[in-house]
Amino acid sequence: MTLTIVGHGYVGLVSACVFADFGNEVYVIGRNKEKINRLKNGDPIIFEPGLKELLEKNLKAGRLHFTLDYQEAIHKSEVVFITVGTPPKDNGEADLSSVFQVAENIAKNLSNHFTVVSCKSTVPVGTNQKVEEIIKKYASKKAQFAVASCPEFLREGSAIFDTLNADRIVIGSSSKKAIEILLKLHQPFSSKKIITDLASAELIKYASNAILATKISFSNLIAFYCEKTGADVEKVLDAVGLDKRIGRIFMNPGVGYGGSCLPKDVLALIDTGKKLNIDTSLLEAVDKVNYQAKKNFLEKILKNHQGKKIAIWGLSFKPNTDDIRFAPSIFIIENLLKHDFKIKVFDPEAMRNIKKIFGEKIEYASNPYEAAKGTDQLIILTEWNEFKQIDLKKLKKILKKPVIFDGRNIYDPLLLKNLGFKYFSVGR
Ligand code: UDX
Repeated sequence: MTLTIVGHGYVGLVSACVFADFGNEVYVIGRNKEKINRLKNGDPIIFEPGLKELLEKNLKAGRLHFTLDYQEAIHKSEVVFITVGTPPKDNGEADLSSVFQVAENIAKNLSNHFTVVSCKSTVPVGTNQKVEEIIKKYASKKAQFAVASCPEFLREGSAIFDTLNADRIVIGSSSKKAIEILLKLHQPFSSKKIITDLASAELIKYASNAILATKISFSNLIAFYCEKTGADVEKVLDAVGLDKRIGRIFMNPGVGYGGSCLPKDVLALIDTGKKLNIDTSLLEAVDKVNYQAKKNFLEKILKNHQGKKIAIWGLSFKPNTDDIRFAPSIFIIENLLKHDFKIKVFDPEAMRNIKKIFGEKIEYASNPYEAAKGTDQLIILTEWNEFKQIDLKKLKKILKKPVIFDGRNIYDPLLLKNLGFKYFSVGR
């Protein structure tokens, strides 16, 4: 099949490479010439494991085409995916301006061969109906199209694996023909297919991210109880999670959830709820606990620090990505700077992005040991694998004081105690 993907972020580029790898002809439309040139040369721009290799392979095979030009791509395509961002506005509402602009651009280039316009961007319930209205307004009379919603559930850091092994593929549309075409496109995926209406598909995505955020905030809330009572949150949640109705996955307490999805999607669902006159206090509490998780961790540092020199390991919002959007590291660094700490940081992938925010206000180290050298304590904010089996004896010699604040509970407290560390983790 021939398809077009508008947008080349985590969702757009990963989907494009995976669909091309299955033998489809894929056009990817961007709006920045420099970025399109980089993509044409095999540079994925973002860091995502395996993506560069998949991009290079499919460019070489001639199945991936990057362009700024809608006209070149749309009229050849059976399916057009919208994968542009829907960032939060100050009031939490999702900013849909890019989605609507792209819908207009697509509309103006539709022809008389049938095209499915399918939204993969996370958009509030009712948005795709507006997309349909926009397309009707701007498309020519002879244009043949149907609108669908195909939400994406990939996680950054394992995006290719998640796309290939999705727990479910959701297709929402009122058009039988659109559903048939999308089923044909997804035929190589063994994932369970859920066929539904537009509104349900849109809501499935928000409900999924909201329950994930709820599980994390719930775990952090239990960690607060553990800190006040001397209980061990890991043991508590291990036992709770053994109940098959609950499960242990996505119940890791820590310094709070970040990233480009969970924080903004919880806020957007609250906003939608308010517009629909629904009591959103459960979701508001999820957001509030997430803030409290970051704040509690910061207070732990401010109360127990051993000096003003501090090392930070892990800046990305989770391991295996260079993405720092809504990363807890930003909150922690901003606040430590306000308290005049001298900060030295290390992250395997996210240093370039953090530098764009903090510039020369903090120091950047080329490895974990260099970051720790001569500082009064170490903070861990992202659970990169390379921190998990670090040489702790060497680390102890390098740090001026053997103190660790671990926001991701990556070490065994007993082991650290026996090695002579003062170890602060979450809920233990
Ligand atoms: C999320 C959803 O998982 C994915 O399905 C959706 O398509 C996009 O949003 P992503 O943001 O890439 O994916 O990362 P995810 O693995 O969900 O982690 C989000 C945040 O939650 C990270 O900051 C992570 O550190 C945190 N987290 C996750 C916890 O604090 N505890 C956990 O148990 C799990």
